[in-house]
Amino acid sequence: MEHLVNSKVKNIELSGIRKFFNLVADYDDVISLTIGQPDFATPEHVKEAGTQSIKNDFTTYTHNAGFIELRKAASQYVEKKYNLTYSPEDEVIVTVGASQAIDCTFRTLLEEGSEVILPSPVYPGYEPLIKLAGGIPIYVDTTKNDFKLTAELIEPHLNENTRCIVLPYPSNPTGVTLDVAELEDIAELVRDKNLFILSDEIYSELVYTKTHHSIASFLRNQTVVINGLSKSHSMTGWRIGLLFAPKTVAKHILKVHQYNVSCATSISQKAALEALTVGIDDALEMKDAYKERLDYVYKRLIDMGFEVVKPDGAFYLFPSISKFNKSSFDFALSLVQEAGVALVPGSAFSTYGEGYVRLSYAYSMEKLVTAMDRIEQYLKSM
Ligand SMILES: Cc1ncc(COP(=O)(O)O)c(C=O)c1O
Repeated sequence: MEHLVNSKVKNIELSGIRKFFNLVADYDDVISLTIGQPDFATPEHVKEAGTQSIKNDFTTYTHNAGFIELRKAASQYVEKKYNLTYSPEDEVIVTVGASQAIDCTFRTLLEEGSEVILPSPVYPGYEPLIKLAGGIPIYVDTTKNDFKLTAELIEPHLNENTRCIVLPYPSNPTGVTLDVAELEDIAELVRDKNLFILSDEIYSELVYTKTHHSIASFLRNQTVVINGLSKSHSMTGWRIGLLFAPKTVAKHILKVHQYNVSCATSISQKAALEALTVGIDDALEMKDAYKERLDYVYKRLIDMGFEVVKPDGAFYLFPSISKFNKSSFDFALSLVQEAGVALVPGSAFSTYGEGYVRLSYAYSMEKLVTAMDRIEQYLKSM
């Protein structure tokens, strides 16, 4: 009966990151630096708020957009951090992770044949959702521009079918961020055009030397901001995302969200309230640890002769492996087999990711040291 399965669903594939992760699971003694998940526990007080929520029977449906105290806290968070004003009543939606916010946004904004511009290499979570919503992903090669999608690179791809531009900064898989001037240039380019920016800011709390800015500060009416607690508070399993949009758009996104999930989990919402209030600066400590790891791993890679852009956010490095004359898949596989270290082949992040591998440094320093030693040994033996 498989022939009856919707053709759009048949044509999408499982994420290359997961595929590689599963493949690695069959090998013994491999240090896997493949998953983009913080290695810290959810802060104790946040866990406690979740536990209390169960004990207090806060276990029923909430408002579809999330309970109002949480929406207020989310609104205050973006106000305080990014000077953005969103009404908790009708411009904030609490979603099931950033992933569901992305899905709802594409399904709300895209028509059959709508084009969506994406920087490439890019997080593989967008393309399948764009295609399911009838859209067409348009990948823009950023490899010669330090992985930054700038106004100059966007302009040649704009046409009457362009409905959305995805700005996922700080970026997965490269860790690169855009600065204020670059965001302003993009805002100028697209202002008053019939298109939206989907600004995926899930790594906004993990920017190391600069300050994170949102393009919504310059283009509020045309921007859907997506954030969440997965990375900032090490809450990937709690599944809490946050979506901010002008009310004319948010009211439509809310319908898609409502029929999709009714609401985010009530228990997780209580934990999220704690994270966004008492725990508003919880990410700082983790950020310091990531920064130390970034500096360490970056130096080791450079000393080994890798070409790699030094990123300023998230927890990834994206070194070039082009000089090894192997596809990114073959290089990553030989690294697993010969060195006992797993990195994700760059090809998992669209075609322009070929020639690179992604390394997540959201792992303990001890693991990172051993992994770097192993890679160094492997390169010497090549
Ligand atoms: C750029 C980007 N956006 C969204 C997500 C999904 O976040 P969540 O786990 O909150 O759904 C990820 C997860 O890795 C990501 O890297």
